[in-house]
Amino acid sequence: MAGGFVSQTPGVRNYNYKLTPKVFVTCFIGAFGGLIFGYDLGISGGVTQMEPFLEEFFPDVHRKMKSAHQNEYCRFDSQLLTLFTSSLYLAALVSSLFASTITRVFGRKWSMFLGGFTFFVGSAFNGFAQNIAMLLIGRILLGFGVGFANQSVPVYLSEMAPPNLRGAFNNGFQVAIIFGIVVATIINYFTAQLKGNIGWRISLGLACVPAMMIMIGALILPDTPNSLIERGFTDKAKQMLQSIRGTNEVDEEFQDLTDASEESKQVKHPWKNILLPRYRPQLIITCFIPFFQQLTGINVITFYAPVLFQTLGFRSKASLLSAMVTGIIELLCTFVSVFTVDRFGRRVLFLQGGIQMLISQIAIGVMIGVKFGTVGTGNIGKTDANLIVALICIYVAGFAWSWGPLGWLVPSEISPLEIRSAAQAINVAVNMFFTFLVAQLFLTMLCHMKFGLFFFFAVFVFIMTIFIYLMLPETKNVPIEEMNRVWKAHWFWGRFIPDEAVGVSAAEMQQKSV
Ligand code: BGC
Repeated sequence: MAGGFVSQTPGVRNYNYKLTPKVFVTCFIGAFGGLIFGYDLGISGGVTQMEPFLEEFFPDVHRKMKSAHQNEYCRFDSQLLTLFTSSLYLAALVSSLFASTITRVFGRKWSMFLGGFTFFVGSAFNGFAQNIAMLLIGRILLGFGVGFANQSVPVYLSEMAPPNLRGAFNNGFQVAIIFGIVVATIINYFTAQLKGNIGWRISLGLACVPAMMIMIGALILPDTPNSLIERGFTDKAKQMLQSIRGTNEVDEEFQDLTDASEESKQVKHPWKNILLPRYRPQLIITCFIPFFQQLTGINVITFYAPVLFQTLGFRSKASLLSAMVTGIIELLCTFVSVFTVDRFGRRVLFLQGGIQMLISQIAIGVMIGVKFGTVGTGNIGKTDANLIVALICIYVAGFAWSWGPLGWLVPSEISPLEIRSAAQAINVAVNMFFTFLVAQLFLTMLCHMKFGLFFFFAVFVFIMTIFIYLMLPETKNVPIEEMNRVWKAHWFWGRFIPDEAVGVSAAEMQQKSV
C-alpha cells in the first residue's frame, strides 16, 4: 500500500524553478477567472432574500415568508425560487463540455474570454430584467460563462505554474472564487437596504464588473507552453517557457512537454480515449472529487447562509452580516492552503479538513435538533445561535483549506495532456450537476430532513475522507507531464498504467517507493 502514501514518487524529476514576476502576474490575472463564479455564488442567496425581488418575481414565496407560524424548516421551500439559483449550474454543465474543445483547439485563453463575454451579457439581462423569462435567460448566460471559465482557468494555472508551486498558484482560483463571494455578500448587505427594485438590480447588474475583468485579462494573457506545443507553435512555446521560468535552462521540462504533446497527438478523440482502461484512475478521481466536494454540503452555507441564519431566528440584516462573516473566514482560511499545499501536500489537507468538517457538522446537527426538534418550531437563544454560527465557521474553515481549493487543483493536475481538457470538462460538469442538485433540493431537504440534513452531509464527509486516504496519491511537486509515475506507484491504480507510459513496471515503482 506504500505507493498510495508516498509524497515523493521515485523517478520524478524536480525542476526547482524560482518564482518569476511574469508567472506571478500571469497567474494572478488568470485567477480572475474565479471571480465570476464566486460573484454569482455569493449574490444569489442574498437577492432571493430581498422582498422587492420576491414581490416582483416570486409573490407566492413572498407571502409564505411573511406568514406567521410557519414551520421554521419550511419557510423558504419553493422549487421555482431554487430554480432561479440552480438553473445557472445546469447551463454551466452544458457549456463546460463545449469549452473543452475550444480550450484544446484554440488555447486556454479564448475559453476564458468567451466565459467573461457570456457572463457580461447575462449580467445585463439580469440587471434590467422585466420578467421571469429575462431573469432565467440571464442566469443561463451567466452559467455558460461560468462553465467556460471553470473549464479553462484551473488548467491554465496548473500549466503555467512551476511544478513546486503549482498548488499555491492553482489555489488562486479558489481565492478568487471566495473573494467574489465576499464582495457579492457585502454588496447585497448594502443594496438590501435600498427601497424599491433598485437594490436587486444593482446586485445582479454588477456582475458585469468581474466579467469585464476576465475579458480584459484573457486578452492580455499569453497562452501556456503546453497549449502552444499542442497547437504546433513549438518555438513560441520554448520562449514562453523560458520567460515564465526565468531561465534558459528549460530543456528538460521542454522535452517533457514535447513528449507529452507527441503522445497526445496519437489520441484523436479525447472523449473516447478517456474511457480506456489506462485512464481509469484519472477518470474515476475526476468524477469523485467534484461529487464529494459538493456533498460536503458547503453550498448549503454558500447559497443559503442568510436563509439558514433567518431560520435560526436572526433578523434579515443580521443574517446577511453573518453570511459576510462566514465568507471572510472562508477567504482567510483559503490562504492556509495556498501556503501549505506544496509543503504538506494535498492529502494532509484533505484528511485534516475532512475530520474538522465532520466533527462540526455533527455538532451543528445536534444543536439544531435539540433546539428545534422535529416539529420545527421554537426559539433559539442568542448564545445558542452564536454557538451555531461559530460551529458553522469552524466547518467553513475546514472546507476552505481542503475540499474547496483542492477540489479544483487535483482534477486539473492529474491527467495527461491528451485527456486533460476532456477530464477538466468532466470535473466541471460533475461539479455543476451536484451544485445544481444541492441548490435545488436543499430547501426541500431542510423542510423534510430537518436537522438530519447535517448528518446526511456528515456521512458523505466520512466516506470521502476514507476515499482520499485509500485512493488519492500525493501529487505535490510532481511536474504535470510526469504524473503517470505517481499513478504507477500507487498500490491500487498502478495496475492500470501500462509500463511504457513510465518506462518501468508497477512492481519496480512500488519497490522503490517503500
Ligand atoms: C466550490 C463551490 C463553492 C465555493 C465556495 C468552490 O470550490 O466549487 O461550489 O460554492 O467553493 O465555498
